[in-house]
Amino acid sequence: MLKLSFYGQACFAVTHKDTVLIFDPYLSANPAKAIMPCQIHPDYIFVTHGHQDHIGDTVELAADGHAVVITTAEIGRFLASQAEGIKVEPMHIGGAWRFPFGTVKITPALHGAGVPGGVACGFLISLEEITIYFAGDTALFSDMKLIGRHRKIDYALLPIGDRFTMGPEDAAEAAALLDARKVVPMHYNGSAHTMQDPQYFAKLVAQCCDSEVIIMLPGETINLV
Ligand code: NI
Ligand code: MN
Repeated sequence: MLKLSFYGQACFAVTHKDTVLIFDPYLSANPAKAIMPCQIHPDYIFVTHGHQDHIGDTVELAADGHAVVITTAEIGRFLASQAEGIKVEPMHIGGAWRFPFGTVKITPALHGAGVPGGVACGFLISLEEITIYFAGDTALFSDMKLIGRHRKIDYALLPIGDRFTMGPEDAAEAAALLDARKVVPMHYNGSAHTMQDPQYFAKLVAQCCDSEVIIMLPGETINLV
């Protein structure tokens, strides 16, 4: 059984048996204060880009040399330069790789890298028959319709906050392009710049596609089915 936990902004964890994957681990400075870094012991840390609300506590979480960071090459180099012993599995846009827990493919994201010379990305992850698309911070782009063409997306985690990423209207269009079974909104209500009503997003999605919207509160965990 896979579990998905939401910790506010763009931070999620996927737990499968004893393996913990964490995405964009913005924990100690996250206003949601769902958990502190000492309360989670990830095996893999996925970082979409170098903005502080995504890199978050990556260095602290990876510094003991247990967790492996999966990210793009430039962000990986930046993270490895921040402390001794940080293990990075660099990848890049369009590439896939099989890890012990499942398959990861790096997807494009239209957003700043947060480090010189890099790019922001998203992740398409398949484990235990479940495929999750973690969009990262991104604008809407029409190639989203290609992301789920080989593997049906079960869960799409999409930003709806606007100002820095897609807003609710574009994110609803993204849900339609992705043709995901279920959609979880993220990256909203973390600051005065990104105040959104997730119910409004759910209404827009219902008007344009068959995806089911699951609204998760920070600290909430669901079973992935
Ligand atoms: Ni960002
Ligand atoms: Mn962000």
